[in-house]
Amino acid sequence: MIRYLAAATGIALLDRIPGGTRIYRRLGELTQAKRRGYELPLLRAGIRTVQQSLELTDPGDRIMDLGTGWYFKDALLYALAGRFEVVAYDVRDLARMGYVHNYLDLLAAHADEIGQAWELPVRPIRERLDDWRRCDKLESLLTAAGIERIVGPADCMPIRDESLSHISSYCVLPHVPLALLTEELRELHRCLRPGGHMLHLIGYEDHLSFYDQRVKPFSYYRFEDRTYRLLFESSLKYQNRLLWPDFRDLFESAGFTVLEETGLIDDNHLAAIERLQPELPKRFRRHPVRELAKTHSWALLRKN
Ligand SMILES: C[S@@+](CC[C@H](N)C(=O)[O-])C[C@H]1O[C@@H](n2cnc3c(N)ncnc32)[C@H](O)[C@@H]1O
Repeated sequence: MIRYLAAATGIALLDRIPGGTRIYRRLGELTQAKRRGYELPLLRAGIRTVQQSLELTDPGDRIMDLGTGWYFKDALLYALAGRFEVVAYDVRDLARMGYVHNYLDLLAAHADEIGQAWELPVRPIRERLDDWRRCDKLESLLTAAGIERIVGPADCMPIRDESLSHISSYCVLPHVPLALLTEELRELHRCLRPGGHMLHLIGYEDHLSFYDQRVKPFSYYRFEDRTYRLLFESSLKYQNRLLWPDFRDLFESAGFTVLEETGLIDDNHLAAIERLQPELPKRFRRHPVRELAKTHSWALLRKN
């Protein structure tokens, strides 16, 4: 718990002092320089995202990776498939060429696996990667990969009505405050063509618990909103603590149909959550134990 509190306090402090955001990001760069981009489970999730989009789209379709992050994880995979116009959208610029090169190395090491998963010949995949790995500037890489990069607001995207065929995000929506999320889903609905799909990976685990293995990833449901906001919330590591039923209602209110939701449940935690549930604030207590035990959801939606 001490590590958890230290992380929460440190991050909240950096969030409030002038220059704190810069220090937080710099610390992230120093600690992650060799690791970020090399995460194989994340690559495999991305391979699956693109595999699903290949089944739902046509060649030449315009596709968006929302909240594209530090190294354009899914945007580069879409580009690697060689059949989409790709938009990489984020509300801030987190990308660093060092992380991108880590990721390109990982892609090259798994080119066969990628080709097999997508049922595409591996040779063009390798050729694209060779070409991209020669780029030493982000801008030249994005040009070579044909990725349109946009850093812009969430609630007013500089994207034409109904010009996207498909949108996906990976661990983005849990980081958006409720009011903005409501606006952003309306905006995504505007940008997506009728019948177009969205695929979102939503993670529910308390990200501060990653600093302290003794703290359970669902313990943050214990706190009332006011207490949580005061002690733990920060814009640097913001989490909205929404659960799947909340997301489902938001998607439906924005005009999407939920076609499929695959929830991943940590069975090891079920008994503990069952014991904890009666003590939780009303906002969380009203949800079934299996919702509280979910670590992630994959949600596939269609624009009505
Ligand atoms: C945990 S990171 C995930 C990055 C990337 N999707 C990946 O898997 O590597 C969350 C990302 O969401 C972005 N983000 C935060 N709020 C957003 C919003 N309202 N709309 C779009 N992206 C947002 C952040 O800037 C960050 O890049």
